[in-house]
Amino acid sequence: MERIATIKDMRQCIQKLKRSGKTIGFVPTMGYLHEGHLSLVDEAKKHCDVIIMSIFVNPTQFDPHGDFDSYPRDIKRDEALAESHGTDIIFYPDTKDMYPSEILTWVNVEKITDVLCGARRKGHFRGVTTVVTKLFNIVKPDIAVFGQKDAQQAAVISKMVEDLNMDIEIKLAPIVREADGLAMSSRNVRLSREDRKNAKVLSQSLFMIKEGIAKGEELSGLLKKAKNNILETPGAQLDYLEARSYPNLEAVNTYDGRCLVAIAVFFGDVRLIDNILIENVS
Ligand code: PAF
Repeated sequence: MERIATIKDMRQCIQKLKRSGKTIGFVPTMGYLHEGHLSLVDEAKKHCDVIIMSIFVNPTQFDPHGDFDSYPRDIKRDEALAESHGTDIIFYPDTKDMYPSEILTWVNVEKITDVLCGARRKGHFRGVTTVVTKLFNIVKPDIAVFGQKDAQQAAVISKMVEDLNMDIEIKLAPIVREADGLAMSSRNVRLSREDRKNAKVLSQSLFMIKEGIAKGEELSGLLKKAKNNILETPGAQLDYLEARSYPNLEAVNTYDGRCLVAIAVFFGDVRLIDNILIENVS
């Protein structure tokens, strides 16, 4: 596996790959890899000759008083995991290389960034779409793979690629879960033992809603029941639990054959998200 630390070297490498006719699959990450990230590599490998993973904890997508400083980082561990899983190149630029001066140019997807996480984390998606555009301009991938765990992010990036005619195919990979159902996330390591145990309430709530819908129960009643479960879970503070259309993210009040149910819950200062796409269930 090749390790590339600067934009200049990455560009040279990409030129060579393009000249030799290789297709490039790209997996952008913020590191602290887990099975979820590695499943993105597996997906990319199905479609492309060379797999490039970026590891960059992007400051512009964190909330001003958010967890940028405490976001887990371990580049040695990430290198070993990425390599053992067949990644060909890791690209880990530093912040000065990615943001050498004050950034005045932003990529902003409207409307679908005003709800769910976007409503609570002002500027978050602007930071994501801007850094992803920068990374796309550097890596010039044929395909890029994102996780369905960040369903809103996946919708926002797909819309950006469509609206700006970016010549990149976006692939989405399913959520990877721990044995108790908790969606894998780099932030899970920051949970206390007690909170980690209780964090299964996110996926349990989503599965309960899906089962209820399959039995013909009312969406609004199921959402209420799930909110109560979360209220009763020690340490859990509900940020949102909402049903929305996907990928347009419009509010859904009654189940009509397809909807996304998305949830965000705080345990202390650790914010966990999860979602389920409910379709063809009844
Ligand atoms: O999903 C993430 O880890 C990040 O938002 C991404 C896409 C790597 C951009 O920093």
